[in-house]
Amino acid sequence: MKKDFEKNILCIGGGYVGGSTMAMIANKCPHYKVTVVDINHERIRQWNSDHLPIYEPGLAKIVAKNRGGNLFFSTDIDAGIKESEIIFVCVNTPTKNFGTGAGMAADLQYWEKTARHIRNAAESDKIIVDKGTLPVKTALAMERILTATGNNIHFDILSNPEFLAEGTAIRDLENPDRVLIGSRETSRGIKARDELVAVYKNWVPEEKIITSDIWSSELSKLTANAFLAQRISSINAVSALCEKTDADINKIALAVGTDSRIGDKFLNASVGFGGSCFQKDILNLVYLCRYYGLDEVADYWESVVKINDYQKERFILTMLHTMFNTLVDKKICLFGFAFKANTGDTRESPAIHISRRLLEEKAELVINDPRALENAKADLHKLEGNIKYIEDPYEAATGCDAIAVMTEWDIYQKLDFVRIYQSMSKPAFLFDGRNILDHARLFEIGFNVFPIGKRSLSHFHNI
Ligand code: NAD
Ligand code: UGA
Repeated sequence: MKKDFEKNILCIGGGYVGGSTMAMIANKCPHYKVTVVDINHERIRQWNSDHLPIYEPGLAKIVAKNRGGNLFFSTDIDAGIKESEIIFVCVNTPTKNFGTGAGMAADLQYWEKTARHIRNAAESDKIIVDKGTLPVKTALAMERILTATGNNIHFDILSNPEFLAEGTAIRDLENPDRVLIGSRETSRGIKARDELVAVYKNWVPEEKIITSDIWSSELSKLTANAFLAQRISSINAVSALCEKTDADINKIALAVGTDSRIGDKFLNASVGFGGSCFQKDILNLVYLCRYYGLDEVADYWESVVKINDYQKERFILTMLHTMFNTLVDKKICLFGFAFKANTGDTRESPAIHISRRLLEEKAELVINDPRALENAKADLHKLEGNIKYIEDPYEAATGCDAIAVMTEWDIYQKLDFVRIYQSMSKPAFLFDGRNILDHARLFEIGFNVFPIGKRSLSHFHNI
């Protein structure tokens, strides 16, 4: 086969991470051929269309620029494996929902099928890069699967966890805080690691490329997500105390976060964290700790998820109690459904839990989101109750008893709340699950306002 490119790179799994990361590599390395393959034919069709399967600011532009040049999306996994020297594995690793470890451990079935697929199709030596978030020692299992046939093909396994956040993926990939590459510390392992370092050096400064042994690399990823989620649960735990004591969580976040040892990021109190990874990765960490008999360590990390569940439930109870202890037939408008702003992703979004609980209380739901309505429909389609999905926020709020802000989309700060108030049923309530609105102003307009971790502003003296 004629090789026009210096390297052939394959990514198995064209989801959020695979698609975005490969688009960035292709963009920064025109001398490499980058191919993304997936078992999901519809996803690949979308990657090859003008309507990409994911919304990520800046992504469509770099895909359009490189697709067909050095960036390809295909369903021919075998051909991709055969022609590539470096294979990234970027398949989903959700929480297992069956058998041993159900609800806690990582479900490695997609990852294992990929390993076997590589082994069966490969005709030459490969560097395999685990890009997903995996339990410690998964790379070892990969090594065992790949070498089980003894066919003299050599596979070097690297761990290269991804730290991008959705909504800022392109910025994070272009200018990462660090790139982490773990390898076996043998001469072969280090040679393979250097090859991957060379790929990233095309645009990432060398001092930001950290190398380590494989197990530390795997565990660093789980630990980083656990630390980030722990900060949110810490500030959310204090927000509950603020609501009892008239202290203000924003002022506390400022006072605490200006300590340079603590830092000011990830201190926004909220209705709870969501997203496909925080909960799954902490539960995975908890499962690993229990597996190794470290129950105290497991309990410590599990409490981060428990506080998150508590925060979501607390939000519902505030709604229920302040709206006269019944939500039956009340119309509640959710502003936002995505798990955070600037993404259409709704995986583990707190809005899913809030919706389910509101429907249990027999409320009617009107859901508004600039990017996530299709996913919201899929998430809620099995739930019984009255749910409407409305694209225009003014129309969505009309006739409602309450608005609950679920996602911190900028558009919600720019709305005309006088117009919204006039269109709503009275008394009108506003529950700001993201603390993004001007609460004093909303109160002046006539709303009863319930932020997170701040004094509520109610026109009723007994609330
Ligand atoms: P995703 O669900 O968006 O995409 C995974 C893709 O893999 C899917 O398109 C699926 O069809 C495909 N796939 C599954 N089995 C396959 C197989 N055998 N062969 C070919 N394709 C297959 O997942 P994601 O969000 O991109 O996450 C991938 C990994 O990266 C996970 O381990 C996750 O924890 C980690 N991660 C995710 C993020 C994020 O922001 N989403 C960030 C950092 C790390
Ligand atoms: C997170 C990490 O930030 C990434 O580094 C990591 O790569 C990724 O998980 C992963 O492994 O999947 P992501 O979930 O995309 O990224 O988004 P975050 O910005 O971390 O937000 C997660 C959740 O926490 C969102 O629901 C967000 O609204 C919430 N959050 C975040 C808060 O409630 N308060 C904050 O101060 C920050």
